[in-house]
Amino acid sequence: MEDKYLIEGGTTLHGSVCISGSKNASLPLLAASLLTADKCVFKGVPQLLDIRNMVKMLSGLGAQVNHQGGQMVIQARELRETEKLHLYARKMRASFLLLGPLLVRLGEVCLPLPGGCAIGSRPVDLHLKGLSALGARFQMEKGYIRASAGELRGCDVTLSYPSVGATENIMMAAAAAQGKTRIINAAMEPEIVDLADFLNKMGARVTGAGTRVIEVEGKPELHGAAHTVIPDRIEAGTYMIAAAATGGQVHLQRVAPEHLRAVIDKLREAGVTIEEGNNELLIKAGRKMHSLKITTGPYPSFPTDLQPQFAVLLSVVPGESTITETVFENRFLYTRGLQQMGAQIRVDGCTARIRGTKSLIPAQVEATDLRAGAALVIAGLIAPGRTEISGVYHLDRGYEKLEVKLASLGAKISRVADQAANL
Ligand code: UD1
Repeated sequence: MEDKYLIEGGTTLHGSVCISGSKNASLPLLAASLLTADKCVFKGVPQLLDIRNMVKMLSGLGAQVNHQGGQMVIQARELRETEKLHLYARKMRASFLLLGPLLVRLGEVCLPLPGGCAIGSRPVDLHLKGLSALGARFQMEKGYIRASAGELRGCDVTLSYPSVGATENIMMAAAAAQGKTRIINAAMEPEIVDLADFLNKMGARVTGAGTRVIEVEGKPELHGAAHTVIPDRIEAGTYMIAAAATGGQVHLQRVAPEHLRAVIDKLREAGVTIEEGNNELLIKAGRKMHSLKITTGPYPSFPTDLQPQFAVLLSVVPGESTITETVFENRFLYTRGLQQMGAQIRVDGCTARIRGTKSLIPAQVEATDLRAGAALVIAGLIAPGRTEISGVYHLDRGYEKLEVKLASLGAKISRVADQAANL
């Protein structure tokens, strides 16, 4: 059954919202739990479609997974490759994060080339290059990658681009490899630091996470560990932008402001007032908002996962703004839906030029990927009248209880069965 959102727009968001644990941190953490036969315990893993699919893959491999009362317990005593793994692995790109841990535990594995959001070709060459340097061998077979490895050995790996997933895969394999690995030009995202913290709790020695050079001293026997997932900075950023775009005032709880520096800076530049606390943020929409220029990039630059949402805000800010996307080559598909809602956006190569209008108009639109869907929801909140958004399953991949949280902030949003999609 597919669902759609009905949004009666034109209300401002007010109140307090608690940010969930990070999806993008949870996925590699769950993969890393396969590195040991011991129990791993995670707190704060969000209830999301992507997480449910990852859990299905872990159980398909033979791991025991128990997700109850905000705690997830995983124990991978014995593992084996199954059809169930292949079925779910095809659906999500993050399945590729299993490659490093499965090479460690099984010595060989066959994984489908990953799917995921329709935002460009998203190759996996850097994952393969890094794991090959540690001693893995790969063969391509009609949409599959067959991987095998004897003993993995640490070495220097230089990434031509600081890929988040490749850095994570190499870190996980290196944590169980013989000797020291140095990842040069590594990704610096907070999710990388969270994974390093967990690997250290498992007995590996990871230093330098959060900088461009990560060193991993492997331990052939890693043990179980307990870990609390960091807050989701992209979910937090989405609520911050929604508060600003609807002219509201929202208090975010259980948030890490230090992970949101580029977003906070850009919102302030646009005229939004932001008060920062230890684990909290207060967002107050500005009376007078300004146009601006944004360029996405690897952390600590502005996150690509928040540019569609920011484009909506800039659509109702006077003057001309530009967004330049440097991470993915095809991340402006969402602009069609926004244009249907009256946004004045022109895409020119990797730059979107946005001319601010007074407001947006309600429409029937379709979410084409996760963050595109979030952008349409914010647009629906702004546009006075009824907006219908189909393709809600994209949002279910990455936003925990989205309609419940937005409704608690005063939004008029409901989830209904999408009769047309279910015919
Ligand atoms: C992760 C995030 C995703 C986010 C992205 C960039 C997860 C589960 N997903 O995705 O939400 O948008 O980081 O912040 O954490 N690339 C290659 N070869 C590779 C790997 C990547 O060319 O082997 C390219 C990609 O095509 C893309 C760029 O590098 O253009 C960034 O990709 P990467 O950092 O790997 O993103 P993901 O880990 O897939």
